[in-house]
Amino acid sequence: MKKIEIELNERSYPIHLGTMECLEHAGAVLVVTNPKVGGLYLSYVLGRIRAREVFVCTIPDGEAYKTLESVEMILESAFNHRLDRKSLMIALGGGVIGDMVGFASGIFQRGIGFVQIPTTLLSQVDASVGGKTGVNNAFGKNLIGLFHQPKAVYIDPLFLKSLPPREFGAGVAEIVKMAVTFDREFFEELERGDLRDHSFLLEGIERCVKIKARVVAMDEREQGIRAALNYGHTFGHVIEHESGYGHYLHGEAVGMGMVMANTLACGLGLLKESEAERIEKLLARYGIPTRYTIGDVERFYDLFFLDKKSENQKIKFILPEGIGGVAFRDDLSKSMVLSVLEAFCD
Ligand code: NAD
Ligand code: GLY
Repeated sequence: MKKIEIELNERSYPIHLGTMECLEHAGAVLVVTNPKVGGLYLSYVLGRIRAREVFVCTIPDGEAYKTLESVEMILESAFNHRLDRKSLMIALGGGVIGDMVGFASGIFQRGIGFVQIPTTLLSQVDASVGGKTGVNNAFGKNLIGLFHQPKAVYIDPLFLKSLPPREFGAGVAEIVKMAVTFDREFFEELERGDLRDHSFLLEGIERCVKIKARVVAMDEREQGIRAALNYGHTFGHVIEHESGYGHYLHGEAVGMGMVMANTLACGLGLLKESEAERIEKLLARYGIPTRYTIGDVERFYDLFFLDKKSENQKIKFILPEGIGGVAFRDDLSKSMVLSVLEAFCD
């Protein structure tokens, strides 16, 4: 098992890569999962936990259940099992479970520890690392939440064997995001290799985790460079909100969002058309949808303002600057943005 340390002073923690080893905890543990992941891997994980008591809480599956109601279910389970401030929550699942357990553990008795055991590619390469936690509500995506770092992350490739191809593609979208924004050489390797090849995939996961750990260590609370990891998300969150959570997978919405961001970047001279085509081609190779049809550009534009990245009524766009670089722009006129959105109308 490999170990990558994320350096955050007293909040530093290890990210373990490889077959999961024993997880020991002196107090009580609450493992939170959903019926699908629990059915597949709960006994595998329970067999690797050594703790005073171990309880299990199962919540409904899906982005549509990434709500305060589900967090309340987790908290009720914690109270029913008499968890205390020395107890630990464990998130066993994809990014939805991870974000909610992170949030629930961050507010239970003003905050207890939690561990991430990510089971989707997307959560292994991105969501499980960095301490962003939260839920969606009627106003938009991830608008309620906390920064709360886990105590450890266990990334076991075994889980990926049962992942449906669409979910795999959603994870690849986040891998492409990391390469485009931070690592040109990695992007070129992705163009040459195939992430469906197991050893290439493992290298890709490690590469992303290292990028993410470095970026989070530099800017834990997203005051600057961490925002680059939101490339594709400004558009993607609107796509998810407009189409109804669960219609597109989060990674798919990010994939389509990256293509929109690229169109904007090309218009500003930050990205060449040929580079935008290479990014779209790489996404399409993994079956990731790259074109979203906008029905009403004014409505789409208004939804940008619900995003956490918009500040003082200015939309902050995260745009690729060539491949391997990133630019932040909050000075674009509405007409400029609408002209890009119109390119995505029927
Ligand atoms: P998800 O958690 O909904 O998982 C996708 C589906 O795969 C679910 O049905 C799940 O039950 C199933 N599944 C999970 N593991 C499986 C396995 N091993 N085999 C078969 N099926 C499995 O979605 P996701 O793509 O993992 O995560 C998306 C969420 O992550 C979004 O809510 C997004 O906002 C969040 N996110 C958070 C961060 C962060 O930094 N906190 C970063 C990126 C995304
Ligand atoms: N997924 C974006 C971030 O963690 O900052």
